[in-house]
Amino acid sequence: MKIRYEQCAPAARKVQPAPGEELGFGIRRTNHMFLAEYKDGVWQDARIVPYGPLCMGPGAMCLHYSQNFFEGAKAFKHADGEIYTFRLDKNAERFNFSADVLCMPQIDAAMQLEAIHRLIDIDRDFCPTQPESSLYIRPFMFATEDCLGVRPSNEYTFCVFLSPSGPYYTGGFSSPVKLLISTSFHRAAPGGMGASKAGGNYAASLRAGQFAKKSGASQVLYLNTANTHIEEAGAMNHFHVLKDGTFIIPPFTDSILRSITAVSVLELAEQGLIKARQEPVAIAEFIDGIKSGEIIEAGGVGTAAVISPVGSYLLEDGTEITVADGKIGKHSRFVYEHMTSMQRGSTPAPKGWMQKVPHYPHTEG
Ligand code: PLP
Ligand code: COI
Repeated sequence: MKIRYEQCAPAARKVQPAPGEELGFGIRRTNHMFLAEYKDGVWQDARIVPYGPLCMGPGAMCLHYSQNFFEGAKAFKHADGEIYTFRLDKNAERFNFSADVLCMPQIDAAMQLEAIHRLIDIDRDFCPTQPESSLYIRPFMFATEDCLGVRPSNEYTFCVFLSPSGPYYTGGFSSPVKLLISTSFHRAAPGGMGASKAGGNYAASLRAGQFAKKSGASQVLYLNTANTHIEEAGAMNHFHVLKDGTFIIPPFTDSILRSITAVSVLELAEQGLIKARQEPVAIAEFIDGIKSGEIIEAGGVGTAAVISPVGSYLLEDGTEITVADGKIGKHSRFVYEHMTSMQRGSTPAPKGWMQKVPHYPHTEG
């Protein structure tokens, strides 16, 4: 793939993250972004250009009918000074799954990986090294045809930008979160697009998220539309740990995102490092399990959230149910530490999980 490169002018360059600086999640940017357009049935004009505003018509279909989706991945700097991406091939695969759900064009996985690795290479000095930080990668695609008919667009933009980031939740791993179990709000429905990373799924979660915050919780734990089983939270899959140390993750359905972190946890179990399996989780049994002590830990998993322990659940009647002593449990801690130390290169990761970002020759034009 030919990728054009236009270097960011010195005056427009962003400040690189300083060691120890508090970064927040998703706030900072780097100097460049990747862009390509889909027109006349082909992807064209692949380029890395200075990070900046995008131009499209007011009738661009993504603005009206939300034909858009995104991905989220992370890169880390290792002790050898090199940058490694975590399971980016899985993100590329899911990117094309989301494209399919939204009637949008595919992008060859190898092309996605090259685009992202080249962009990271150019802005490699922005990869932070402080604890719980990463270079967050945000690929996304949106419909740009200026037309008001409700049908798939004929034109799209693929964009990737990077964000030197700290933990998703303030306080990071060491602050267990509170989740509101809601029977009034639902994130996705059977036959819908909940298994994809459509922007619309996140728009649908905003009102519920606000309600959760007003109730004193961090996020909503969504149930299926029949309100019988646990699905997932707004930005992470859900897990709980039984007394014997087994992680239980609800099976992926067409209303649950197939989390790459959850899949990684299940793969760690296949390697014998932990015990984990997927099985439907009835909400009534889940609450009873916490109360009886059969469930000893619970939490969320995701790229941004990593492993986020849940200290307590809030029910809609205001009752709060604390998981064990409300503190981080040893099983969640083990998985968090194992996962992050693989990501940081301190523990060997299974073959192919970490991919070194190559040093490419970059010439303008
Ligand atoms: N579920 C939802 C709704 C998400 O937005 C995310 C974040 O990507 C996840 C789960 C976790 O998925 P992953 O581990 O692939 O980041
Ligand atoms: C991620 O974990 O990468 C996500 O996409 C979550 C995001 C909504 C913050």
